[in-house]
Amino acid sequence: RGKRAFIAGIADDNGYGWAIAKSLAAAGAEILVGTWVPALNIFETSLRRGKFDESRVLPDGSLMEITKVYPLDAVYDTPEDVPEDVKSNKRYAGSSKWTVKEVAESVKEDFGSIDILVHSLANGPEVSKPLLETSRYGYLAAVSASSYSYVSLLKHFVPIMNPGGASISLTYIAAERIIPGYGGGMSSAKAALESDTKVLAFEAGRKHRVRVNTISAGPLRSRAAKAIGFIDMMIDYSSENAPLQKELSAEEVGNAAAFLASPLASAITGTVLYVDNGLNAMGVGV
Ligand code: NAI
Repeated sequence: RGKRAFIAGIADDNGYGWAIAKSLAAAGAEILVGTWVPALNIFETSLRRGKFDESRVLPDGSLMEITKVYPLDAVYDTPEDVPEDVKSNKRYAGSSKWTVKEVAESVKEDFGSIDILVHSLANGPEVSKPLLETSRYGYLAAVSASSYSYVSLLKHFVPIMNPGGASISLTYIAAERIIPGYGGGMSSAKAALESDTKVLAFEAGRKHRVRVNTISAGPLRSRAAKAIGFIDMMIDYSSENAPLQKELSAEEVGNAAAFLASPLASAITGTVLYVDNGLNAMGVGV
């Protein structure tokens, strides 16, 4: 039987989630997607109208199939956590069962189990503010959407993950080195995500024989990255200073994720894998 993957954090064809889905599909996996509730409508409409058909083409010429798209808001674990104003918000009221626990239940009902869980989402409402100017609200919101969302996803999905399964998230070098401009507590959120990768690798490994790794990706012009505001500068900086002087493609991150999710990586867990043209290894730019 082919493997089944659930990828949280796809709302268009520009981000890392989409590229990971493609690499996994090319390797024969069945693709399920979790899409942020406010972005669901436009994503599903675009998909249906063929707007993504060009970017759905796999190496063998066939088109990637997405078996099912689930609405998801990863900052809420159960319906009891959802505040009234969100519940009654027009964009949310049109969908149902989008808290993390409910999505895991729906996937279990629909498919029974999965083999691969991918977390490709982040959000920091104050990302453009320096840490020194970040509010408590902004900081906690960044950690809730970008770090705890992963703990929660794995917690709710690991019971339906087959032994030997793998889980992957996306992190950024700002967790460990100073990247001015990556503010609002987003650097803190990525540091938490990387530390949690180790602890979750232990817990999920011992209890469920599931591997947990994170990919520290180089800069990509995704929707989320454009919102931060310095992505073009980071891409230029990398091209100038990294050991490999080329622009990073989302596909290169997708392929690394497919490797980490495959039996080729059966002894790899608890790691941060850099897929960044080697930029992390530089001490000074030259
Ligand atoms: P993206 O915009 O394609 O993906 C982010 C997704 O998160 C979007 O689809 C958005 O709808 C979703 N999202 C936001 N809040 C959510 C919530 N509460 N519940 C569910 N979904 C939610 O952008 P990108 O850049 O591909 O991001 C994917 C991951 O890659 C993120 O973890 C990001 O931090 C990481 N990353 C990105 C880099 C870049 O330069 N683009 C570099 C290193 C890491």
